[in-house]
Amino acid sequence: MRFTAKFVAALLPLAFAMTTGTAQARDWNTIKAAGTVIAVTEGSFFPFNYFEGSKLTGFEVEVAEAVVKKLGLNIEWRVVPFDAQVASIRQDRFDFAIASHGYTEERAKSVDFTNPHYCTGGQIAAPKDGALTMAALNGRTVGAQLATSYYESAKKIPGLKELKTYKADPEVFSALKAKKIDAWISDKWLIKATLDKNPDAGIVAGEQVFVERVSAIMRKNNKELMEQFNRGLAEVVKDGTYASLSQKYFKTDVSCR
Ligand code: ARG
Repeated sequence: MRFTAKFVAALLPLAFAMTTGTAQARDWNTIKAAGTVIAVTEGSFFPFNYFEGSKLTGFEVEVAEAVVKKLGLNIEWRVVPFDAQVASIRQDRFDFAIASHGYTEERAKSVDFTNPHYCTGGQIAAPKDGALTMAALNGRTVGAQLATSYYESAKKIPGLKELKTYKADPEVFSALKAKKIDAWISDKWLIKATLDKNPDAGIVAGEQVFVERVSAIMRKNNKELMEQFNRGLAEVVKDGTYASLSQKYFKTDVSCR
C-alpha cells in the first residue's frame, strides 16, 4: 500500500498526540464544565509543598486550594518531579503547576506565569564555621536541586570546585549534613523552616544571593484560565486567607510588597 503525502500529513497530528499522551489543553470553559482543575506540585519543598504522611500540604498547596475554591471548582493534585514540570505544562498535560517557580525569561518562553503568590530569594546555607558567602565558595563544592534558579546561580560562582545536583531539595540538605558538599543554595524561607526544625544540625543561613518572584505556571495563552486564577488569588488576598496562611507557615508576610 502506498500513502500519499497528503494522507501522511493528515495522520501526523494524531501520531504526535499518541506519543505525548492525551495532549489536550483545557480552557476555562472546559475546566468549569468538568468542575475539577488538575494541578501539579512536587511534594518535597517544605514548607511550600510537602507531604504530611500521605497528605499533600504546605503554603502554596493551601493557597492554590483556596484560589480554586473561590473559582467554585474542586482540585485534583498530581505529583510530578520538579525538573519535569515546565515540560509537562508546555505539553498541556495539566491545567497548572504550583511548585515555587520563580519567574525567569527562559521559563517564560514555554509557559505563562500567574501573578506571584510570594516573593523570596536564593540563599546559601553551610556549617556555621563554613563558606557562607559567594566569595567564600571559591574552590568549594556546592549542592543544589536540579532545574532550579539555585542551580543557575551556583553555576556563576567564580572558581567553584564542583556543583552537585540533586532531584529534590531534602537530598541536598542531607548531603550538606553528611559533609558531601560545603554549601547548599535554596530558598531563604525553606532554609529557615528547615533549620528551625533541625536546630542541632550545626547549619546556618548565609548570604542571600538573588531575589525572585514566585508564581504558578500554566500553558501559554490560556487567557481566561489565567484571568480566573488571578481573580481567585486577589480574592484570597482580600479576604485575609492569604495573610493567615502566610502567618501559619512563616510567621511573617511573604507576599510581594
Ligand atoms: N524557586 C526555585 C526556582 O524557581 C526552586 C523551586 C523548586 N521547587 C520545588 N518544588 N522543588 O527554580
